[in-house]
Amino acid sequence: MADPPHRRRAHASSSDLERYAGLFAARTQVMRSSAMRDLMAVTARPDVISLAGGLPDTSTFPAQTFAAQMTRIAQESTAEALQYGPTEGFRETVDCIVEVMGAEGMLPDPEDVIVTTGGQQAIDLLCKTLVDPGDAVICEAPTYPGAIPVFCSYQADTIQIECDDDGMRIEELEAALARLDGEGRRPKFIYSVPTFQNPAGVTMSLERRRRLVELARSRELLVIEDNPYGLLRFGGESVPPLYQLDGGDFVIYIGTFSKILSPGIRLGWAVAPPPVMEKVVLGKQASDLCTSTLTQYFVREYFGAGRWSDYVESVSGIYRSRRDAMIEALGRHFPPQATWTEPEGGLFIWATLPEYIDTGDLLAKALRRDVAFVPGQAAYVDGRGRSSMRLNFSGSGEDEIREGIRRIGKTIAEQVELYGALTGEHPAVPEQPAEEAPNVVPFRKAEGE
Ligand SMILES: Cc1ncc(COP(=O)(O)O)c(C=O)c1O
Repeated sequence: MADPPHRRRAHASSSDLERYAGLFAARTQVMRSSAMRDLMAVTARPDVISLAGGLPDTSTFPAQTFAAQMTRIAQESTAEALQYGPTEGFRETVDCIVEVMGAEGMLPDPEDVIVTTGGQQAIDLLCKTLVDPGDAVICEAPTYPGAIPVFCSYQADTIQIECDDDGMRIEELEAALARLDGEGRRPKFIYSVPTFQNPAGVTMSLERRRRLVELARSRELLVIEDNPYGLLRFGGESVPPLYQLDGGDFVIYIGTFSKILSPGIRLGWAVAPPPVMEKVVLGKQASDLCTSTLTQYFVREYFGAGRWSDYVESVSGIYRSRRDAMIEALGRHFPPQATWTEPEGGLFIWATLPEYIDTGDLLAKALRRDVAFVPGQAAYVDGRGRSSMRLNFSGSGEDEIREGIRRIGKTIAEQVELYGALTGEHPAVPEQPAEEAPNVVPFRKAEGE
């Protein structure tokens, strides 16, 4: 049989846009694209070293384990694994979630858990449940870049609170709450990634965690704790999650299997008090009926083997070496005026350059050298973050990281020199080695958030 003819569409013309524009919902006017998704087209090229994505290194997962578990599912439960499942998720998946949360000292009631299509869907469902257009939501500055498009699509008024090395500044949060009080407004929630934050890599101190939880309890405010990275610790002392400090009355928790197992299985979860959960379940029914049965079966098999935490430990070791390689390379190739965070876990370093460097422009120049990062502006709703960048160290090998940082450093050095030529000031620039590092072959072809 002949292939059906394909309709080939050129890029939308202005008359195309006009034809559809009258049909769009008002919310589409404030929808924003994710910076990482936008970068995908360029970073998918095999010659580009991307320090932009948020990818765990899935090449570390043993292929035989994957094959054996999927084969067992096929042999023992093909019909069930290919079927729809309950909206809340399977009880067996929830048991795995309780085990993962237990490893960080949390004891959620299984009835309070919903299995979601990644942590990303949990953010979306919570916004769908809680946010009306114009409602205030509070988050960190910078915040998880993938949360911003969600806040925007629910037309939230997003207020960002500065972070430092100890996480969100609670006195600034108190001032923002007082301002909102003065306007007769109450934020719908405070969203935080308190541990090895995406994008800054910083961890909220115990003292600030206690103050945040006290504030939430005394003012009856909801906190959403998003914690994909807590188990990826490779230095320092562990700090209790906000959920543990609060006991789950005012802290809603979001977790994910993406960084401790695989983002491709698209399995995350939310834990919320029953009245909130009831609405979240309705929202999920409307959105996708249920999370993938097949990948929930995979998680059940995988956890059944009892070695999930060995894998987490092994990837943490790999990421520790990559972080060290990145920090060493930053010291060697970035100018002395630059600063960067030194995370004790997670996937990201946040670097800040002299303020006359715009990292959006810098990215365009860096891409000509086949290297990418996320410009800091992607982590703010209001254009701040122009001289910062997010650098990922989990998705690339150590040689690639060194070479990527060297190329970015060279691009920065040119900017610094140009600034010197234009202003007559001559800031110090580290000497850039002339040689390209040999045989650096990027292996990553997608972009996570
Ligand atoms: C803070 C944070 N929340 C949520 C997500 C979404 O992850 P997923 O949907 O893969 O679980 C990410 C991914 O990078 C993240 O960093």
